[in-house]
Amino acid sequence: MNFQWVDFLNPEDEKQLVYMANTVAKKEKTVGFASTLNEEQAQSYINGIKGLLGKSSEGFFVARFEGKIIFHVLISFKADPNNKHLAYASKAIVAPEFRGKKIIQKALHYVCEKCEEKGSSILLLDARIGTPAEALWKRMGFIEWGVLPGYAKVNGEDVGGSYMYQTTDYLRKISIEPGK
Ligand SMILES: CC(C)(COP(=O)(O)OP(=O)(O)OC[C@H]1O[C@@H](n2cnc3c(N)ncnc32)[C@H](O)[C@@H]1OP(=O)(O)O)[C@@H](O)C(=O)NCCC(=O)NCCS
Repeated sequence: MNFQWVDFLNPEDEKQLVYMANTVAKKEKTVGFASTLNEEQAQSYINGIKGLLGKSSEGFFVARFEGKIIFHVLISFKADPNNKHLAYASKAIVAPEFRGKKIIQKALHYVCEKCEEKGSSILLLDARIGTPAEALWKRMGFIEWGVLPGYAKVNGEDVGGSYMYQTTDYLRKISIEPGK
């Protein structure tokens, strides 16, 4: 398995990203889609990601196994001096076959490294309340600073979202270094 920041996606990568989003949409409901993406939605999902690649405000980080993307996360940075200490993580997905392998902790090593390079010392993220993702981030040490009622609409019902933060100093300590 290898980890890298990418600013280009080849057609195989694009297919894999749609596959990963689809499995989450079907089973976990934690992406913005209620069910499998149709062709138009898939194209717009990919275009949305491609539009961010290479921008200095964004970092798209992936893990590959035998060339195939099996994990990705988007880290968004701020440039203004008063808030460049804040970075925001989104689109974290581990391909179902690769869950439980501590990929998140391994990725955190590189994410913290990049945050420090960019002058960011706090990582923010959010998750739908009641999902395994919410429990996982909290178990990893993320601290809830707020709850947004109506964060997601699920079958027409409002579901809250938990907004969380943790320092890169802390996350570095729980991260797993390359090769370990
Ligand atoms: C969220 C996700 C990225 C985590 O990846 P993963 O491979 O399943 O995570 P791991 O199994 O390596 O677990 C990481 C840590 O969280 C813990 N954890 C895993 N599932 C958990 C759960 N349901 N509740 C509490 N903790 C959990 C693990 O025990 C582990 O901690 P430990 O090393 O101290 O034991 C992955 O499950 C995923 O892609 N889910 C669908 C997409 C999604 O929900 N993304 C997040 C949107 S906010």
